Amino acid sequence: MQVRVTAEQPWDVKADVLVVPILGQPAFSGPLAELDRRSGGELRSLDDFGELRGKRFKSVLAGTGSGKEIGAKRLVVVLGGPAADLDRETVVKLAAASIRRLAGREARSMAVWLSPLADVLEGGAAAVAELVGRGVVEGGYEPARIYRDGYEEGAPELSELVLVAPGEEKGRLEKAAERGTIIGEGANTARTLSNRSSNDVSPEVLAEEAYTLAKKHGLWIDVIGPEKATDMGMGLFMAVGRGSDNPPRMIVMRSGKKGEKDALGRHLAIVGKGVCFDSGGISIKPSDRMDEMKMDKAGACTVIAAAVTVARLAPGTPLLVMAPAVENMPGPHSTRPGDIVRALNGKMVDITNTDAEGRLILADALTYAEQLGATHLVDVATLTGAVSRALGELVSGGFGTPQTFVDEVFAAGARAGERYWQLPLVEEYKADMESWSGDLVNFSRNNEGGLVKSALFLSEFVTQPWVHLDIAGTGYFRRVTPYAPRGATGVSHATLVELALAGAKG
Ligand code: BES
Ligand code: MN
Ligand code: ZN
Repeated sequence: MQVRVTAEQPWDVKADVLVVPILGQPAFSGPLAELDRRSGGELRSLDDFGELRGKRFKSVLAGTGSGKEIGAKRLVVVLGGPAADLDRETVVKLAAASIRRLAGREARSMAVWLSPLADVLEGGAAAVAELVGRGVVEGGYEPARIYRDGYEEGAPELSELVLVAPGEEKGRLEKAAERGTIIGEGANTARTLSNRSSNDVSPEVLAEEAYTLAKKHGLWIDVIGPEKATDMGMGLFMAVGRGSDNPPRMIVMRSGKKGEKDALGRHLAIVGKGVCFDSGGISIKPSDRMDEMKMDKAGACTVIAAAVTVARLAPGTPLLVMAPAVENMPGPHSTRPGDIVRALNGKMVDITNTDAEGRLILADALTYAEQLGATHLVDVATLTGAVSRALGELVSGGFGTPQTFVDEVFAAGARAGERYWQLPLVEEYKADMESWSGDLVNFSRNNEGGLVKSALFLSEFVTQPWVHLDIAGTGYFRRVTPYAPRGATGVSHATLVELALAGAKG
């Protein structure tokens, strides 16, 4: 898809479709009035009919009148909600909803009129250009194309996106839009890896995919198999991985040099949970919705994709990526509930529930990241059902320490247009995690505050500034929305990219 910025007026742009965002009640003054006049009153008539009232992300397909006074063939009017509420997340989703509105239609070129959004959003037209570029790429994503040849019903594959910004400086907007499309492509890379089924993507295959991406984008990569992981002392990682015939892989990627500090003096590590299938192991899950547990690798897919995006946007930016990949299966070789296992950091963990496996593999990955010189760590994981009950599908949970680092990560989230809500690390609850004979359990029988306890467990394996992001509720959608299909959302990819790029050199 080519992206072009134009300073033409919206009615002059030639395209199959012109997207017209409307904030609040449409006010037919200025350029919107002109667009309406040229459409032969189409917009005003739709408004009188009540068609332009409704919720955010509602969209209406309209003609451009018979007078041929509008360059585009059709209009998509998309509602953005009250102007005062417009934020970065909404702009991405408006753009995504606009292209998804064209699903199954013949459209090769789409123009988006940026001004109504640029007049309101902090950062103006450049910010909007970036977020619209990203939103159009993400909105064009269709998981049905992974396995089905010639799937036609999804959003159209555009050959051209035109950003319409009268009075703006073209070069600056083009750069911004390109940044946006690269971030969108990264999110889609994460989504495809996550959406692929467990018979397709084993830990080995995930490692091969990471390898291919690393070679293509000049990233250093090391893949640790079961023998080496055992020798190194990654007992928790192996305790989860050993139950499956598909052997585990600890995937380590890096841009920049070993231990190299970024412009903020950090050696940042991003660590993603890569459970390619989570049956629960011997503590087996109920069959209802167990199929969704192919998505339990979303964190790993996100950090791998984020490394690629950072390499594309600012090559050489110091960044360490850790993606422990396993399959959590029951079998004769599986870890049993009550097994006591030595972690890489030396702690003896009493595995009271094999379904609390994410925290086990993350624990060893966090330790290993610190051994490789990480000074700041962020992990991303589909860790608990509890976070989706608490926060739903639009807000991810966050924990961490110290608060200054949590604030930095959340600020990156705000730039990325992704929502997080901080939950507390309640030290007192550690008392419930005592083991009969080990240092701690991975699951307390009294699972009250289980969400907090999942993060408390992880906190036992870090000594540096650290943030844990739980994306179990937000990592994939079970229902269709105007801006996204079912399946992986790519959530937190953009946050991690913003966080890493804050330390880009030069
Ligand atoms: N992968 C699951 C968490 C999950 C649940 C992700 C639903 C997405 C949707 C995780 O490994 C798990 O099994 N968590 C348990 C933890 C419990 C055993 C302490 C849970 O949430 O029930
Ligand atoms: Mn589990
Ligand atoms: Zn899991």
